[in-house]
Amino acid sequence: MAPPRRYVLLVSFVLMICPLKIHAQTADDAKGILTKIFTTDAYNKAVRPIYNQNLVLNVTVDFSLIGIIEFDSQKESLTSAGYLIVDWNDYYIQWDPSDYNGTTNVFIHQDDVWKPDIALQNGISEFKGIGYSELLVNVTSEGSVAWWPYVILQSTCKVDITYFPFDIQTCSLRFTAWSYFNTEVQLTEGTDGIILDSYEENSAWTVCETNVDKLPQSTDATVVFTMTIKRKPLFYLLNVILPVIMLSVMNACVFVLPAKAGEKASFSVTVFLALAVFLTIVASTLPQNSDNVSYIGIYLVIMAIFSTTTVVLTLFQLRLNFRDMNKDPIPPWLIKLQRIVERVRKRRCNRVRPVDQAQNRVVISDYIDIKDEMKVPVIESKVPLPPEEDSKLEVTWNHISNSLDFIFFWLFFVSVIITTLTVVLVIARHAH
Ligand SMILES: *[C@@H]1O[C@H](CO)[C@@H](O)[C@H](O)[C@H]1NC(C)=O
Ligand SMILES: *[C@@H]1O[C@H](CO)[C@@H](O)[C@H](O)[C@H]1NC(C)=O
Ligand SMILES: *[C@@H]1O[C@H](CO)[C@@H](O)[C@H](O)[C@H]1NC(C)=O
Repeated sequence: MAPPRRYVLLVSFVLMICPLKIHAQTADDAKGILTKIFTTDAYNKAVRPIYNQNLVLNVTVDFSLIGIIEFDSQKESLTSAGYLIVDWNDYYIQWDPSDYNGTTNVFIHQDDVWKPDIALQNGISEFKGIGYSELLVNVTSEGSVAWWPYVILQSTCKVDITYFPFDIQTCSLRFTAWSYFNTEVQLTEGTDGIILDSYEENSAWTVCETNVDKLPQSTDATVVFTMTIKRKPLFYLLNVILPVIMLSVMNACVFVLPAKAGEKASFSVTVFLALAVFLTIVASTLPQNSDNVSYIGIYLVIMAIFSTTTVVLTLFQLRLNFRDMNKDPIPPWLIKLQRIVERVRKRRCNRVRPVDQAQNRVVISDYIDIKDEMKVPVIESKVPLPPEEDSKLEVTWNHISNSLDFIFFWLFFVSVIITTLTVVLVIARHAH
């Protein structure tokens, strides 16, 4: 089999542009080498290139990562780009450089020599061999072959979203010489881990750590590259977590609205709907599995429960507010509760502004009068009432409703803060 003319041209071109130590290398040298390999020695690429076919052929594999194209948590897949550096020794490619004016290496088409049928074992795209037919391999006079195929890899990657968006994923790329057992072809790693010299940063993920290993009790010729990648959380912090926290605080603020404003119910339902939207967004980002639940998911569900409770409480409270005193007398325990709340609120006011006590009292009595019947002249209320008389004021359903507002506001506000802090602490502890 004569070497095709274009190989010779290519080799001579390479030799021309590479000024080598021995200047006398000619195209005839390269041509002579190819003639020796393919014609004189009758190279057969189907034969595993080791003389004793009982021995194992060692192939070293390295992976140089160029970039992470995409990590899809929904499909649990990783798309990455890089090139493999595959080296082995071909027993049937050998020549004496001194016979060819010192020519030590030539380039041969990858399809013309034996090469391990390396493929990605945990790929999710169509199964096909690596490399393409135009690719050349660099062979030396001792028979060492270097093959550097570029690959876009789509691999499976088990996703653990417990600490989303501070999650760390470990993805592996399992390369195997598909047709061979490890008694025939042994894939070994050249370096520790993945080569990151040409790596370009991804905007969503950082590569923390890489590793390379063999499958321990596998009979396949396999080498496994593992990379640990960490999500950059800023996007989700700004676009999901922060709005959810703000909504949760807003949720508690339903109880700031007075019942007479007539907005309480619609406000609380609106907040609930907004939370539901964020719940959907987070759910669509995460894989639809039930193996592990994310803390953020749990947090959102708790907030949704808070919100539902708020809606229900608000509705009941509105009903109370518009009850008729004459038809439904207020039960004594509610009156007691109202008194306690009133006292707490007053003490708080007094503590804040002790100097303005008198003025403060005017404001409070004013507020109560307006709620009572709107008809009470404002001048009357300007007269500060002594504390004993104040507490003897008749308690209405409206007062009860206001007290409930006060209790619920603080209850929900504190619950939201505690839940948020707990979740943040749990996640943050993992993030370091
Ligand atoms: C070595 O180079 C010389 C010219 O420098 C050439 O005449 C000779 O044919 C070459 N040898 C081989 C084996 O090609
Ligand atoms: C391949 O490597 C193993 C050790 O990893 C060694 O024992 C064996 O001799 C090597 N085979 C060849 C053909 O060099
Ligand atoms: C081909 O292999 C030779 C010998 O190992 C080396 O000197 C040369 O740089 C290689 N060429 C390329 C393009 O890698």
